[in-house]
Amino acid sequence: MAILIAAPAIDPRNLVAVLQSLDDNLDVRIWPDDGEVADIQCVLSWNHPTGILKCYANLKLICSYGAGVDHIINDPDLAPDIPIVRCVDERLVAETAHYTLAVLLSHYRSLPLYREHQQRQEWRYLKTRKAHETVVGIMGLGKIGTRAAQLCSLSGFRTYGWSSNAKQIDGVRCFHGNEQLPEFLQPLNYLICLLPLTPETRGILNRDTFAQLPHGVYLVHAGRGEHLVEADLLTALDQGQLCGACLDVFQQEPLPTDHPFWEQPKITITPHIAGRSDQEAIAAQVFENYQRSQRGEPLLNLVDRKRGY
Ligand code: NDP
Ligand code: OXD
Repeated sequence: MAILIAAPAIDPRNLVAVLQSLDDNLDVRIWPDDGEVADIQCVLSWNHPTGILKCYANLKLICSYGAGVDHIINDPDLAPDIPIVRCVDERLVAETAHYTLAVLLSHYRSLPLYREHQQRQEWRYLKTRKAHETVVGIMGLGKIGTRAAQLCSLSGFRTYGWSSNAKQIDGVRCFHGNEQLPEFLQPLNYLICLLPLTPETRGILNRDTFAQLPHGVYLVHAGRGEHLVEADLLTALDQGQLCGACLDVFQQEPLPTDHPFWEQPKITITPHIAGRSDQEAIAAQVFENYQRSQRGEPLLNLVDRKRGY
């Protein structure tokens, strides 16, 4: 019985060390050195190469290295009955929520503009809209979106949130479902996307959605690249429907050097760094779920395969 780490872009050494500190008899392998494939019962995946899962006939559990599981669910070789669990980690939640607040506050307080003034030795005050007259809308009120919404609300912004199911969060006006999406979008000054990627949310940041926003909204996107219709963003920026965007996730990562986003001054690019999973927390969760799976017990942070998150 073995756990396979299939996460080509991640240095696995610390993960292996932490897993083996939890049980020094644990057989941990690192793809592509998977050894006797019949031993593999658990895969820890972060963008595993598609096609490898079908090699593991005794696979009983797949763990996502991150909060998102689209990289697993979108694998055409994924058997329908294998449970998927995701990482729910305090550091990841806090960091991703901090990222959205940092971007929001930087734009709200015009820091990039002051930086431009500084370059011209220009001492000039800019007007700031009052926080309580500034409406921030968060798409996705899960672990991360809820934290981000709470931070926005505590910072004094009028905070709106949108999710699949109805929610109650102190200080946040909550909307749910496609019917309430227009009402959610209509008064926003900032739109923050923290949705998971599913068939329902793919392409949700598109021309029609942007058209329902007031003119001049700023977009903060830390969900997944495939939420965004890239050409529609460029048009919305050109037409002033959006005044700017900060993007942490892209359809292709790393973003190709010839991609038009690099040249658009209204776009700020960060390289998928909003939140980073804590390897100690991941290893502990994988180990716990691996043991539960072996004992036939309920798994933690189980993904609903039908919903896709
Ligand atoms: P959760 O599963 O906890 O929350 C997902 C939220 O999205 C829920 O509130 C859910 O609604 C809502 N949702 C899902 N589908 C729809 C829909 N069709 N319409 C409206 N709302 C919907 O996820 P997390 O908060 O942990 O993470 C969210 C995403 O953030 C991840 O999947 C990942 O893509 C991204 N992420 C990005 C990071 C980065 O570094 N850029 C870091 C970490 C995560 P309901 O509550 O009603 O079910
Ligand atoms: C995640 C991410 O899903 O880092 O955890 O994007």
